[in-house]
This record gives sequence, structure tokens and C-alpha cells, in this order.
Amino acid sequence: MSTSRSSINNQIYNDLASTWWDEASPLYVLHTMVNPWRVPYFEDALRGAFREDLSTVSLLDVGSGGGYLAEAFARMGCRVNGVDLSERSARAADTHAKSSSLKIGYQAGAGTALPYADASFDAVACCDVLEHIPDWEKAVAEIARVLKPGGLFLFDTINRTLLSYIVIIIGTQQFPLTRFLPPDTHVWRMFITPGELTKAMQANHLTLAGLTGSKLAGNPLRLLPALLKWKKGSISVHAFSKKAAFTRADDTRVNYLGYARKQ
Ligand SMILES: C[S@@+](CC[C@H](N)C(=O)[O-])C[C@H]1O[C@@H](n2cnc3c(N)ncnc32)[C@H](O)[C@@H]1O
Repeated sequence: MSTSRSSINNQIYNDLASTWWDEASPLYVLHTMVNPWRVPYFEDALRGAFREDLSTVSLLDVGSGGGYLAEAFARMGCRVNGVDLSERSARAADTHAKSSSLKIGYQAGAGTALPYADASFDAVACCDVLEHIPDWEKAVAEIARVLKPGGLFLFDTINRTLLSYIVIIIGTQQFPLTRFLPPDTHVWRMFITPGELTKAMQANHLTLAGLTGSKLAGNPLRLLPALLKWKKGSISVHAFSKKAAFTRADDTRVNYLGYARKQ
């Protein structure tokens, strides 16, 4: 797995691949903190763009990880494929989907060279992935290529601001009291501003149709005590996530999600 041009550690997704669905895994917070924010938003976007019945909608999840989003899209009724640079993650996602009786076609592959023909999918999701790819603009071009005309690109990623440095880099990776992610899970200079993403989408005939930010669903003052208890193992990740889950807000300084339509 190449990490050239950056010191980002994408090896984590091989090393921790067997833990995606383990509640004690640091990866599991994507399921408990981030899914409640993004899944209802994407469902509204899909139902608005296509129709209430999503059973004819073909969707590709790029950087599908353990399948947290791919499974949510499959439960909405979409016909889902997932692709991930980490072969071990793709295999773990496949095993979990099968054990949940969900039909999802997973394979290993790079977002920058998607192993699919032009205009293959009605929708493509790429969530919490672009900021892990050194040449992410190439992934946007590939996503546009495999989308059908009129198709939807669903995304979420992390903004490059002072606040995202404090929250994501210092808070989750560096400060001994609060860190819970391995070093270099994220690299600040690889974060992407909404303006940069919009420009890359425009260059590939993807027109921004919706964008929103995030805030904590719970009281921010209760976050630190809950985080410390979760790190000590005295509360579950679910109890922690009640305080720490994201919800939609205008503030895009840390992370943001949205969708674009291919012309
Ligand atoms: C933070 S996880 C997000 C997983 C999933 N999208 C989610 O939100 O639950 C990032 C994923 O992107 C994958 N990834 C990193 N670089 C990639 C690339 N160039 N092409 C495809 N997948 C990539 C990693 O292997 C990992 O599974």
C-alpha cells in the first residue's frame, strides 16, 4: 500500500481490518459517531434525486472500509458495490455483509484507478476517504468517470482549518489524555477545504447540490468526561457516542458532507 507524498498511515486499515465490527476498535466510532450524521442526509439526497424506491439504484462505495456505509445503503434498498485499497478490509466487509444476509459486491482497488467501466453507477459515495488519498483529485475524476450522467456523488471529508487541527490532530491523535487514534491516521495538510473540493468536482462536471457541516449532538462540556470514561473502559462506545455523535449544523470548520450531481 503506497503512502508516498505523505506520511499518512493507511496501513492501519490492513492492520485493524479484523476489528471493523468490534465495538472496542478505534475504527468503530465511524459507525457510532459519524453514521448518525451522514446516513439520514444521504438517504434524503438519494430519495430526492431518484425515487422513494431505491431498489434500481446502483451505488458504489469508494473506500468502503468495514462496510458501515455500504451496509446502510444496502438496507435502504440500493444495489451496492464497495471498493477499498485494503484487501483485508474488503474481505472483512464481505464477511460481515454475508453474516448479515446483505448482498454487497466488495473488491480491492484504488480510488484513483477504479476497476469499473465508464458510467456504471447511479450514485458513488466516498466518505472519510478523500483526505487519506495523496492525489485525491484523481479519485474525484475517477468517481465522475464511473457515474452515469445525472448520477449523484455523495461525500464527507475533513476541512483544513485551525479548529480541525486542534480537534482531529491534537485531540484524537496527539494529546495523551484524549487521543484514541494511531499517529498519522490523519495528516492535517491533506485535509480538503470545501472550496478545493468544489473546484475539483467542477473540473469533472460534478455540480455541488448540497453541503452541510457538523456539531456535537450532546453537550460539548460533557464530551471530555465521557471520552475519559470510554478510554478507561468504564462506559461503552455507544454510551460515549450519545455525547459525541455528530449532528447537522452550518459549521463546516471540522468536517462536512454533501452531494453533487453529474451533468
Ligand atoms: C476512515 S476509513 C473510511 C471507511 C468508510 N468509508 C467509512 O466511512 O466507514 C478510510 C478507508 O479508505 C481506504 N482508502 C485509503 N486510501 C484509499 C484509496 N486510495 N483507494 C481506496 N480506498 C482507500 C482505507 O483502506 C479505509 O478503509
